[in-house]
Amino acid sequence: MKDKIAALLTEIEAFVPENADALEAFRLKFMSKKGLIAGLFADFKTVAPEDRKEMGILLNELKDKAQGRLNQFRQIGEIEKAPVAKPDLTLPAGQFSGGRHPLSIVRNQINSIFKRIGFTISEGPEIEDDFHNFTALNFPPEHPARDMQDTFFISRDPDIALRTHTSSVQVRVMEAGKLPIRIIAPGRVFRNEAISARAHCIFHQIEGLYVDKDVSFADLKQTLFYFAQEFFGAETRIRFRPSYFPFTETSAEMDVSCNICGGSGCNICKHSGWVEIMGCGMVDPNVLEACGIDSSIYSGYAFGMGIERITMMKFQINDLRLFFENDIRFLKQFEAAQ
Ligand code: DAH
Repeated sequence: MKDKIAALLTEIEAFVPENADALEAFRLKFMSKKGLIAGLFADFKTVAPEDRKEMGILLNELKDKAQGRLNQFRQIGEIEKAPVAKPDLTLPAGQFSGGRHPLSIVRNQINSIFKRIGFTISEGPEIEDDFHNFTALNFPPEHPARDMQDTFFISRDPDIALRTHTSSVQVRVMEAGKLPIRIIAPGRVFRNEAISARAHCIFHQIEGLYVDKDVSFADLKQTLFYFAQEFFGAETRIRFRPSYFPFTETSAEMDVSCNICGGSGCNICKHSGWVEIMGCGMVDPNVLEACGIDSSIYSGYAFGMGIERITMMKFQINDLRLFFENDIRFLKQFEAAQ
């Protein structure tokens, strides 16, 4: 009996079923009521009393081994037996073909408006040095924007930081020295702000720069008026308020009449009828000079707007964080826009 058990054990341990049928055959052979192991248990009566203890242990071990083998391969058998889901060929194809991010939609629209009137697109690095982000733009050394609270510094001495605005691209284009200049520069900017519905540490801007002989504030106004009417609609009015930026003199902020309420007052425009959309002004002569342009011959205007703000207005989105969460339920709503 001992030899028989040992032989069966070897067979069980070597057993690997090729398919579900082989596993069933194994079960019938070893584990069924009339199987080999049940037969051995029946023969147990004939074992001499002094050998029963040892034989009992061996027999139970054999049974456990066989059961273990069955359990191990049963899963495979089940997978094999599971009906394979056939693809439904009658379903319409490409149910969600993807769509552009709302910020990309608005950026592309702004780009194309300016391209129509002769602006080209420039880009600059997101990691900038102090000169291009601050010094050449006439920021005094103690200006608060250079502070650790606003700027993500990568290193100090020399100061390298994530750019805080796309105005740095102005400097790079002017330095390159090809005049006249008529560019817009869309891109990502970074500031050390607490994240909320109205502020984020990453956002997007579009910078504009025009440098030539005899450029005046009237040119700036006319260009931005054209932009506002093209983007927000022919009924849109604009107004300028005096402001201050280190890199422009004269400086202004431009408001557009609220395109939600048409100027009569709503909570988007905080019941003023106007929404601020950008900063602008005449390029400060110090900036032209820092970039190697003779300010006695050339003048220019510049402007800068936040893409998030304009997108929020356009699509009536009330929380900035939605732009960065990649929630498909949000993004799907812009499938049809372009
Ligand atoms: N760089 C400014 C900002 O980030 C925006 C800006 C204002 C850009 C006036 C300009 C400008 O070119 O003339 O807040």
